[in-house]
Amino acid sequence: MNTIDQDIITPLLEWYDQNKRILPWRGSKDPYRIWVSEIMLQQTRVEAVKPYYERFMTELCDIKSLAHAREERLLKLWEGLGYYNRVRNMQKAAIQIEERFDGVFPRTYDEIQSLPGIGSYTAGAIASIAFGEAVPAVDGNVLRIISRLILYEEDVLSQKAKNEVRDMLLPFMNVSGRSGDINQAFMELGATVCVPNGAPHCEKCPWKDMCLAKSKDIWQEYPRKAAKKARRMEKRTILIVGDEDHILLHKRPAKGLLASMYELINCEGELTEKEAVDVIRSLGLSPLRIQKTLPAKHIFSHIEWQMSGYRIMVEPLDYYNLNDKPDGDTDCNLDKKSDDYYWVTKEKTEKEYAIPSAFLAFTQYFDMKPGMGKKISG
Ligand code: ADE
Repeated sequence: MNTIDQDIITPLLEWYDQNKRILPWRGSKDPYRIWVSEIMLQQTRVEAVKPYYERFMTELCDIKSLAHAREERLLKLWEGLGYYNRVRNMQKAAIQIEERFDGVFPRTYDEIQSLPGIGSYTAGAIASIAFGEAVPAVDGNVLRIISRLILYEEDVLSQKAKNEVRDMLLPFMNVSGRSGDINQAFMELGATVCVPNGAPHCEKCPWKDMCLAKSKDIWQEYPRKAAKKARRMEKRTILIVGDEDHILLHKRPAKGLLASMYELINCEGELTEKEAVDVIRSLGLSPLRIQKTLPAKHIFSHIEWQMSGYRIMVEPLDYYNLNDKPDGDTDCNLDKKSDDYYWVTKEKTEKEYAIPSAFLAFTQYFDMKPGMGKKISG
């Protein structure tokens, strides 16, 4: 196996000191701030994370406020970032920090990794950046960079590769006393120079004279990745149902995909206009007009939704059938078996209800005017 046999750290840190970006979570040693940023940055780009990060930190500025936040509020703060289990796990971890560690963020890699939702990468990032522990934080960036540097042949999606690269880097983490900066330098190099999509900017790289992929001009071949299983395709039909002022939302079950989030009404398969109208009637509503929407797709980790949709204007609900809740929202007692439908003013759908990004393409149809669309007869 190829390995690292020279000092890669000195040029890396010199480069980092001159090129690091100023980011809202940099410069702080507060483990809570670092933790929130690292969880948000999993699967989401730095630029997209920034506004979410500021809002989250303003509202839930410490472990205690996170541990005690209402789930609805948490999901709303996370709305648009996707992978909602990340924030649910953060709350579980915050509760555990209160219970197991007296509310004080644990200081060692092993303790940090024992918390829900914190794997080896995140534990390494927090332990090194906040507490200076000499541990690597191996993520996709590190695997890609090292693969190119030394022509590492292992499939980087495998656990074996993560372990081997971690072991390779471990002896380098102590040399400067700057393990947190070393890990952040890898992140920075991966985001700005040795990028995941498209050609790397090798002329800017601190390792341009030692990188084997550069010297042989074969960066495209690294990192090695075994073919992934194809995503399951699912056709779904989204029904944007409402009157002039309200939209019908459904609260998803507490377990499974998009747990406890509010969704637009949606059904498996690609429904015809008539089938869509029948669904609405079966909920006890009276559809007046219907308009087909543009199609959209959404990619989850293992499933792809291929969505068609209809905007359906219904007769205003009989307010005597709605159960007013203390906060002024209405449980929409449509289907008497279930309390999970909500008849929500358009304004509130956006401000207060966490609607998954999968439905984002369809929220533009909230504003249907009374005369729009095709009249439904019968
Ligand atoms: N990606 C993951 N963690 C990061 C960090 N701390 N800074 C920049 N990019 C990152």
